[in-house]
Amino acid sequence: MFDHQAHFRRDQKEIEAAVLEVLESGKLIMGPAVRAFEEEFAAYSQARYAVGVASGTSAIHLALRALGIGPGDEVITVANSDIPTSQAVTLTGAKVVWVDIDKESYNMDPDALPAALSPATKALLPVHLYGVPAEMSPILQFAEANGLSVVEDAALATGARYRGQRIGSLGTLTAFSTAPGKMLDGVGSGGMISTDSEILYDKLNSLRHYGRERPPYRDLPADTAKWPSKTVEIGYNERLDTLDAAVLRIRLRRLDETLTRRREIAKRYQDLLEGDVGLQRPPQDAEAVWRVFTVRIPDRDRIFEAMYRQGIGVSLAYLPPNHLDECYHHLGYRKGSLPETEAFADELLALPCHPYMTDSQVEEVAESLLALL
Ligand SMILES: Cc1ncc(COP(=O)(O)O)c(C=O)c1O
Repeated sequence: MFDHQAHFRRDQKEIEAAVLEVLESGKLIMGPAVRAFEEEFAAYSQARYAVGVASGTSAIHLALRALGIGPGDEVITVANSDIPTSQAVTLTGAKVVWVDIDKESYNMDPDALPAALSPATKALLPVHLYGVPAEMSPILQFAEANGLSVVEDAALATGARYRGQRIGSLGTLTAFSTAPGKMLDGVGSGGMISTDSEILYDKLNSLRHYGRERPPYRDLPADTAKWPSKTVEIGYNERLDTLDAAVLRIRLRRLDETLTRRREIAKRYQDLLEGDVGLQRPPQDAEAVWRVFTVRIPDRDRIFEAMYRQGIGVSLAYLPPNHLDECYHHLGYRKGSLPETEAFADELLALPCHPYMTDSQVEEVAESLLALL
């Protein structure tokens, strides 16, 4: 699914120097690399602000918390995501409400939103699944018409574009993961939140740092870092690690290059597989970034087993769908609640699609799949 060693070796010298610099500086928590990376990431994402947090999960969770979402509220999302998407909603105390997906893009079906709306709905949480942007225009319009915020789960979509604009500045807040293997990845758990709102930026800065009033940066002038530090609400210890930020800065500079290679591989898969299997279709005018290349095939279990046994890095991301997962049984969803999502779950097969694959490896994966159909 990914080649972490090749990825490290590509920038090894720069990474070693940057890590050493952090260790020698002694500023291990919220050191200067964090703020520098936040500024660079915000610029890249075409947003005014970016906040480094502990994971993609905490990015979604803190984004919802910054909006004041909690018990009594409802957040509408999809069930064909990684479980943290839904759990982030549940962790706020709000109720997660799942809508069905569009069968071509595998993303939130905007037509399903009206039936899911209730007086308690506060936000929409679309997911850009596998790096393919959701159809944001009708989603944003629906949010606007109904006074809802939009938090985007872009855990897999750093660098993707929708109608010319980077994912990161479309909704109210956008949540990214920087875990190893993601589009832009560090060396451990990490995440980013981007927003154009100064108020939300200040709120997030506080929430990730125990709810303190003063920003946590270690490079602030000495007198602003003086104690006592007022704590204005119950917050979290969920900051981006400085070592991670130092590595992320290096990899951000080469992100577009890796995304270009991912797109080339996805194109090759499309050419080789078109007509034989169901393909994920990005919306018009969207530029996907392809964390994996996910196809739909009947008799998926047999083919997955066979490819897996051949040593191919196929995966079933993400099964079971969130609404049928054990931690949500108490909500009473059963098979049949979300027909498109469930049909997708029966047929999905994620093929490897990463920048260190060679053309012949891509062909080998496609040939193996075609031979098994
Ligand atoms: C779609 C999606 N959302 C959220 C997350 C959570 O991100 P993290 O693992 O960094 O907490 C993931 C993780 O892979 C994901 O794939």
